[in-house]
Amino acid sequence: MTTPVVEISDLKKTYMLGKVPVEALRGVNLKVERGEFISILGPSGSGKSTLLNLIGALDKPTSGKLLIDGVDVSTLNDNQLTEIRQKIGFVFQFFNLIPRFSAKQNVELSMAIVGVPKIERAKRAEQLLETVGLKERMNHKPAELSGGQQQRVAIARALANNPRFLLMDEPTGNIDSKTAREIIGLIKKLNDDGVTIIMVTHDQHLAREAKRTVQVFDGVILADVVN
Ligand SMILES: Nc1ncnc2c1ncn2[C@@H]1O[C@H](COP(=O)(O)OP(=O)(O)OP(=O)(O)O)[C@@H](O)[C@H]1O
Ligand SMILES: [Mg+2]
Repeated sequence: MTTPVVEISDLKKTYMLGKVPVEALRGVNLKVERGEFISILGPSGSGKSTLLNLIGALDKPTSGKLLIDGVDVSTLNDNQLTEIRQKIGFVFQFFNLIPRFSAKQNVELSMAIVGVPKIERAKRAEQLLETVGLKERMNHKPAELSGGQQQRVAIARALANNPRFLLMDEPTGNIDSKTAREIIGLIKKLNDDGVTIIMVTHDQHLAREAKRTVQVFDGVILADVVN
């Protein structure tokens, strides 16, 4: 057996809203194996983003255990946390591209941060933008691209450093339904090519596009089904 990419046991997260505790996650258990495409489905406020932020090592749990690639995240120092985050590809609802950079420069930037040489960066950025269907637009800035095209750039950027897995929070939440279908097609194709994907959504139809759906409600997992 290979090590799961993510292994979570009895994970809890309580935020303090002033003096009022908000129990966003109340004991979550989850295992994600390499090559999976899993959706995390639940209504607004159910704890989806909280869970995704913990899996991405962007935030710390209140209690419980989180292993990424077999490594207990709670044992890592800040440098090690930065390193582990660089092995994860993040895609958000609001693209988060740098406005004054071209599509290509946006993709190159994440490689520059980890020290990939300039020539290699440029070559890989072009390949990735071709993969997501944006070869002709690679010198355009985000404002010169549609929402769907911007999300393609964000996906290319997330793939730049060969991440162990992709984390997506409502990746089609900010684009029209036709374009959303194209983006989900791209996500499925990436998974077919071997990319492990964890996608958060409140949209049942979108969730069913994944191979497996984990349903969260009020901070707990209610169901875990194969689609
Ligand atoms: N930083 C925070 N401080 C206090 N409470 C928070 C914080 N972030 C989230 N919460 C609360 O934790 C609960 C879960 O929030 P979370 O953002 O994980 O939900 P979600 O499922 O992603 O919702 P949505 O679909 O609206 O994005 C909610 O009750 C929310 O108000
Ligand atoms: Mg959310």
